[in-house]
Amino acid sequence: MGLWDGRERMTQTRKITILGSTGSVGVSTLDLLAFAASRGEAEFEIEALTANRNVEKLVEQARKFRPKFVAVADESKLADLRAAVAGLDIEIGAGKAAIEDAASRDAGWVMAAIVGAAGLKPTLKAAKRGADIALANKECLVCAGDVVTAVIREAGGALLPVDSEHNAIFQVFDFERPNRISRLILTASGGPFRTWKKQEMASATPAQAVAHPNWSMGAKISVDSATMMNKGLELIEAAHLFPVGHEQIEILVHPQSVIHSMVEYVDGSVLAQLGTPDMRTPIASALAWPDRTPSPSAKLDFAKVAKLTFEAPDLERFPALRLAREAVEAGGVAPASLNAANEVAVAAFLNGNIKFLDIAAISEQVLESVSREGGPATLTTLEEAVDADRQARLIAEDCVVARAAA
Ligand SMILES: NC(=O)c1ccc[n+]([C@@H]2O[C@H](COP(=O)([O-])OP(=O)(O)OC[C@H]3O[C@@H](n4cnc5c(N)ncnc54)[C@H](OP(=O)(O)O)[C@@H]3O)[C@@H](O)[C@H]2O)c1
Repeated sequence: MGLWDGRERMTQTRKITILGSTGSVGVSTLDLLAFAASRGEAEFEIEALTANRNVEKLVEQARKFRPKFVAVADESKLADLRAAVAGLDIEIGAGKAAIEDAASRDAGWVMAAIVGAAGLKPTLKAAKRGADIALANKECLVCAGDVVTAVIREAGGALLPVDSEHNAIFQVFDFERPNRISRLILTASGGPFRTWKKQEMASATPAQAVAHPNWSMGAKISVDSATMMNKGLELIEAAHLFPVGHEQIEILVHPQSVIHSMVEYVDGSVLAQLGTPDMRTPIASALAWPDRTPSPSAKLDFAKVAKLTFEAPDLERFPALRLAREAVEAGGVAPASLNAANEVAVAAFLNGNIKFLDIAAISEQVLESVSREGGPATLTTLEEAVDADRQARLIAEDCVVARAAA
């Protein structure tokens, strides 16, 4: 059983769950579903919607889409949630276990759009019961890619990449002949600091870091785009999703974000997927796969785009790319540790506790520390991945304290 063994999927009413429905990808998913329903393209029922603590938005969505179950991860929000859904005939839950309950409920298509390693356990719950997983939450493959893909293979669902780059590759990758593929080319916008000097980046503010030139996204992934850690995490994600060696995956800066990624074949042919930078296109691809469904995203106007340009990435100004390459080469606990360190450092940066360049510096310190300690060569169990994540967070938090005090 592969990760994408196809069946006709859009033919009957489907039950859908969105983990992280109040975030940028979650909102785009609901927007696309409303669009598809309004055109009679898809019949669906929403089984569950989840958030961390944004009760207001979750309840606004619940009123419109009438899910059977809504949950918040933050238990302190339970009373607010209960009061807000009173009279709506919707079951509710709060806490990490409630998010896993949402994932466990009977929905055949689950959008995994929680940000960070917090998405790992709920995504695994949905995967274990054989649901098709539309995967936006790249961190869960970075933390525990071998575990997640093994569970999906065994349970028989499909793993449908939603990250625009991986969705692009998915659309042009010949899974019957992977040995005829020479390179995957992951494109990167370069983020808001693409043309900044390192000394300018040293004093970059959170507001500048989240101001992505092409995409509108949540705060964490926006900062990851600014450090280019996002592309590093995507390199690790791609190594789990596609049957190629990580050394065959290259990163190419393409500031217009029109070519979402490319696959090069041994005969020199390069196949690409193009589109406007709108997540509703890859989400539509994952929703309808293996069919197609219309999306409200703007269509490409090539004459207006006029020019597509490319640059090699600068590893000196964006060391996160080098760190991700080192982590995927090292394997074992390294990718999970890098991811955890980055999550802690990004949160500290957004809270104003550390400087922008500290994010990669802390990630590097943590990576060096865990590589000195060794650890298993591969992570084969969820417990190992969770443990690596926890250890790395502790080291990273110490690094944050040291840098904040410096
Ligand atoms: N945004 C994009 O265009 C894009 C593109 C490609 C891939 N991705 C990936 O998709 C994922 C989501 O990104 P996003 O930009 O949509 O993030 P986001 O806007 O920050 O939304 C994150 C969602 O996860 C929920 N959440 C946060 N922490 C949680 C926790 N501890 N437990 C349970 N739920 C939690 C949030 O709830 P609250 O609203 O209550 O905080 C929200 O619903 C990330 O892995 C990102 O890398 C995003």
